[in-house]
Amino acid sequence: MSPPASGGATLAEILNILEGYDLRCFGYLSADHVHVWAEAAKRAYADRNAYLGDPDFVSQPTATMISDSYATRRRAEIRLEGATRSAQVQPGLGPVPANQSTTRREGDHTTHYSIIDAAGNAVSVTTTINSLYGNLVTLAGAGFLLNNEMDDFATEPGAPNQFGLVQGEPNAIQPGKRMLSSMTPVIVLGGKGKIELVSGTPGGATITTTMAQLLSNVVDFGMDVAGASSAPRVHHQHLPDVLLFEPSALREDVQTQLRSRGYTLRERREYSGDTQSIQVMSDGTLAGVADPRHGGAAVAAEAPMRSTP
Ligand code: DON
Repeated sequence: MSPPASGGATLAEILNILEGYDLRCFGYLSADHVHVWAEAAKRAYADRNAYLGDPDFVSQPTATMISDSYATRRRAEIRLEGATRSAQVQPGLGPVPANQSTTRREGDHTTHYSIIDAAGNAVSVTTTINSLYGNLVTLAGAGFLLNNEMDDFATEPGAPNQFGLVQGEPNAIQPGKRMLSSMTPVIVLGGKGKIELVSGTPGGATITTTMAQLLSNVVDFGMDVAGASSAPRVHHQHLPDVLLFEPSALREDVQTQLRSRGYTLRERREYSGDTQSIQVMSDGTLAGVADPRHGGAAVAAEAPMRSTP
């Protein structure tokens, strides 16, 4: 998804950086795997936070962010021996041009669904009112909650929002401007535009890394979508400079190795994400996989899709 969602550009940057490593050779959730993963996410989120915002208001370097040459440059900054402190990870494309800045200083609940219909049309929809119950206000007679999406703006550039994201001037509040979102609905197309996978998730700032990890699990580790969805999740978003992992996701020895490389680790008390995915199997049947973290389970494959012209 393109700006004002940051998901597409950030996802592509993470995966392009990771493309330079033989992740499967590192071993799944080994220290080397988690390390390059976190370093890639840190850099992509540094760029996200610095450059992205509503394209009606700011031009932004998404084409560069998703290019192979830029990924090569960002990858070259990564040392296998140790973590780069987030304070040392700068946005990779220099300061935001002055005319992009605004001078103003102002001060959980999201849903994803994936659909493939009998004719082979796919939609991937993430919809959000931001926090639980939005801003806690319903419209009398209308029957729905109002959102508290204003927190997705950098309400005070440099200060963290509810997800701890420290975002920049391009995402500062302005009249008529849309806030930067982490939403990352995904449709993967194979050869000749054939749909391979539809997926997405809620989860605030972890949305993009959840999708990046799911795709990397499938592409780099050969997992099917059920395995890729249930695999433990790891998250880094540049600031705070903390590598988050789901309960019991990382072995003690991997944690020790990562700490010795300079990481601050935090084990989450709760699981992150709630992916809803459809994988098109090689025989054309559809496998629906709801994230087991929230009581979902893989469903039986549906009838084969009709072939499309
Ligand atoms: O668009 C965004 O990035 C946020 N409004 C998403 C919030 C969210 O996913 C909270 N639910 N888990």
